[in-house]
Amino acid sequence: MKEYARGARGEGRVIGLVPTMGALHEGHTALVARARQECSRVIASVFVNPKQFGPKEDYKKYPRDLPQDAEKLALVGVDVLFAPETADVYPDGFRTYVHVEGISERLEGRSRPGHFRGVATVVLKLFEIVQPHFAYFGRKDAQQVRIISEMARDLNLDAGIVVCPIVREADGLALSSRNAYLSDQERKAARVLYRALLAARNELAAGVRDAMQLQGVMRRIIEAESLAVVDYAEIVSADTLEPVVRVARPCFAVLAVFLGKVRLIDNLFIEPAPGESEEFVFQL
Ligand code: PAF
Repeated sequence: MKEYARGARGEGRVIGLVPTMGALHEGHTALVARARQECSRVIASVFVNPKQFGPKEDYKKYPRDLPQDAEKLALVGVDVLFAPETADVYPDGFRTYVHVEGISERLEGRSRPGHFRGVATVVLKLFEIVQPHFAYFGRKDAQQVRIISEMARDLNLDAGIVVCPIVREADGLALSSRNAYLSDQERKAARVLYRALLAARNELAAGVRDAMQLQGVMRRIIEAESLAVVDYAEIVSADTLEPVVRVARPCFAVLAVFLGKVRLIDNLFIEPAPGESEEFVFQL
């Protein structure tokens, strides 16, 4: 892979990387489509990264279907599928990790200790191997995107981080490989995530600025759905992902919700009325 990437760079190609854990859906193919527009060589990686799963999480049963993923990637015009073996990525004696401090411990990091250390480590390794000019990530994992961007800045990485919009089903459910675990009933109940996010946005539009109140709105909607259990429902600064007291600047409403054993996350960008927002620079 490194040799190919070196050769492509040598020929003046622009390399776009779409890192995935497989079980590909339209959210992933949208990332590839964007990379296809902007790059002359598109490389997709499929690697279920053991280092980002906790001991009680779904690493073993995470959906894997490489032949089907390969077919989908060929259809959307990927030039190279990079699907390394675990032992190649993490050889015996592997003990070097990347930890982006502070932000890795909040939200997802609080519920999934060590998760972002695993993500940052594998993404840095993929960047080293594939040497992309640009790497494409979905905004459903808003915190992941932020952490990878901070790592890229802190470590002077060459890759530009491109953040792409969330792709949703017709009823608003954000696409995720984990949606495949949902029973029919849980799938119906999962609509509650987007409903709760929209309710927070509507309350904000109606003049509510107090973050606790907006969080309360989201919680009440989710708690009314008997199959859903809130892990977190917060309003955080879009800039730093730190909790806010008042929505005076652009924010994300962020959610993690259990439907049975399946844990789903989602988020929605929310902002005060135009002109009301304090000066804001979205830095990534
Ligand atoms: O978002 C994902 O699928 C994974 O966290 C990533 C970025 C491919 C790293 O394993």
